[in-house]
Amino acid sequence: MADPQHRMPMPKRDLLAITDFSRAELEALMALALRMKRGDYHERPLAGKTLAMIFGKTSTRTRVSFEVGACQLGGQPLFLSSREMQLGRGEPIRDTARVLSRYVDGIMIRTYAHTEVEEFARFATVPVINGLTDLLHPCQVLADVLTMREELGGWAGKIVAWVGDGNNMANTWLEAAGQFGFELRLACPEGYEPNHALFDRAAARTRVTITELPEEAVAGAHVVTTDVWTSMGHEEQAEVRRQAFAGYGVDEKLMALADPAAIFLHCLPAHRGEEVTDAVLEGPQSRVWAEAANRLHIQKALMATLMGSPTR
Ligand code: CP
Ligand code: NVA
Repeated sequence: MADPQHRMPMPKRDLLAITDFSRAELEALMALALRMKRGDYHERPLAGKTLAMIFGKTSTRTRVSFEVGACQLGGQPLFLSSREMQLGRGEPIRDTARVLSRYVDGIMIRTYAHTEVEEFARFATVPVINGLTDLLHPCQVLADVLTMREELGGWAGKIVAWVGDGNNMANTWLEAAGQFGFELRLACPEGYEPNHALFDRAAARTRVTITELPEEAVAGAHVVTTDVWTSMGHEEQAEVRRQAFAGYGVDEKLMALADPAAIFLHCLPAHRGEEVTDAVLEGPQSRVWAEAANRLHIQKALMATLMGSPTR
């Protein structure tokens, strides 16, 4: 019998997109996250390990939840701003990835082009986690679908309405709809639709529709969700976008068209009075704080799965 010590090492896994994990793996991740959330998990799978966190854009939730989560699992988080790294002065991504892989046990990156994260993952020999790109925000939507499961009991037969920009969050909801099989209706103004390839891929797996009418998307929905009209990196378009998105704000009148038990989600930060009113964000249907809390639990489950040493 082969000596387990001399087995070939398992290839490293990354999470750059929700579709990097199978449905069964995603369900296992959520089960672990809920166990951690219940306080029924006392292992320290990151003991002696370091997570490097590279930020090319600002962050509150992602930074703090990864940092605290890594500590709670016994690991050491390392915050790195890409502006203060040689990366910011033009050192190639592939060189940075290979060097960091020799010091740390996992790397989380938040950046602009999705291809940068893909290149990082290709050259890193440790797991890479996407902490948001212009294309996708998988950690956030994993927390959102976990919140759906807790609040609505599951995904089967559920309708999610996305209102606003067809941005990184909308694209990731498309991936989640394909993986979990719920219906996704997007209401986006012309010119602000989500990624076409991701739309088509999701449409081949589940029911996804796109309209310019928020009322049409929200009618009877179980989840109503939105995001800022101007994402990080598009600041110079803020005024044009404010005009393009007029009429796409989620208010109580729009929420009244959804299922009476519908919940409202928003990844935060929110701009009250733009994409959502204060009344909805602070109202009885809002689950945004539970959603934000779930970032910690799902990312802990993700780090334990990708970076953890087996403890039993
Ligand atoms: N929702 C989210 O990713 O928040 P931060 O930008 O604060 O990390
Ligand atoms: N779409 C937003 C999400 C922020 C968490 C952005 O990319 O800025």
